[in-house]
Amino acid sequence: MQNDYEIKPLTPIIGAEIAGMDLSKGVDDDLFGVIHDALMQHQVIFFRDQNLDVDQQEALARRFGTPAHSSKLKYYDDAHPCVSLLENDGSKVAVGATWHTDNTDFEAPPMGSLLYCEVAPSVGGDTMWSSMYAAYEALSEKTRDYVDGLMAVHDNSIVKRLYAGQDVLRNEGVQVQDGVLHPVVHVHPVTGRKALFVNAGYTSAIVGMSDIESQGLLRMLFEHVARPEFQVRFRWRAGSLGIWDNRCTQHYALDDYSELRRMRRVQIDGTKPIPFTH
Ligand code: SIN
Repeated sequence: MQNDYEIKPLTPIIGAEIAGMDLSKGVDDDLFGVIHDALMQHQVIFFRDQNLDVDQQEALARRFGTPAHSSKLKYYDDAHPCVSLLENDGSKVAVGATWHTDNTDFEAPPMGSLLYCEVAPSVGGDTMWSSMYAAYEALSEKTRDYVDGLMAVHDNSIVKRLYAGQDVLRNEGVQVQDGVLHPVVHVHPVTGRKALFVNAGYTSAIVGMSDIESQGLLRMLFEHVARPEFQVRFRWRAGSLGIWDNRCTQHYALDDYSELRRMRRVQIDGTKPIPFTH
């Protein structure tokens, strides 16, 4: 095992940078244990100056679970249908330029993602993450009691609208599908902590409420999750790798650059979110 590493928290709430690991050498069980524990604690972790080819990235992803085939984004290449290519020079709408948790329009949204930077703009193109543990815990007790048992509808209509006519989806014919239901507050399957689970990218309604009530509550929650206190912001360089736990975070890819940004993303299959019950 590579012992000479350091885990440096980037904020008191979310995010850590791990220095002193060369992931291209492979990750044995002990090292994977360290990385996994760091992810469970910090929710998103970063590595600098890695030199990972697409197969090495996929192999690392496989340590966390099964790489997902389900992304609607373009494939990196035909040999790697589990690797999405996110490439933009500012001429298209940036993928993920809204607060969201990936693919909560699926019955079982991805558990996490590994995003590797091949080319970074000289300035801009940062990504931000927000902790949904912190967001939940910062709600008043009365609001927590209120939202704890609620269910919400998630669908891809917002994504479809955002990317209409853009050359980013694998198949421009991706259809708006019926919504799936997820708890507004769920229990993380590994840590047992409660996290808010609604996001502006996919959540369209709260079950059992009128439209005006539902939109009002969602607007309040979307504003709440975007509080800077819950966030970390990462500046990409070529060779940077970010790994996030999609079950307890949201992220936002800033749409503020005009030079090439080229990223590879592998998502890991997840499980159906578990509702909190009193
Ligand atoms: C995403 O939303 O998964 C993309 C994040 C990024 O490109 O920074």
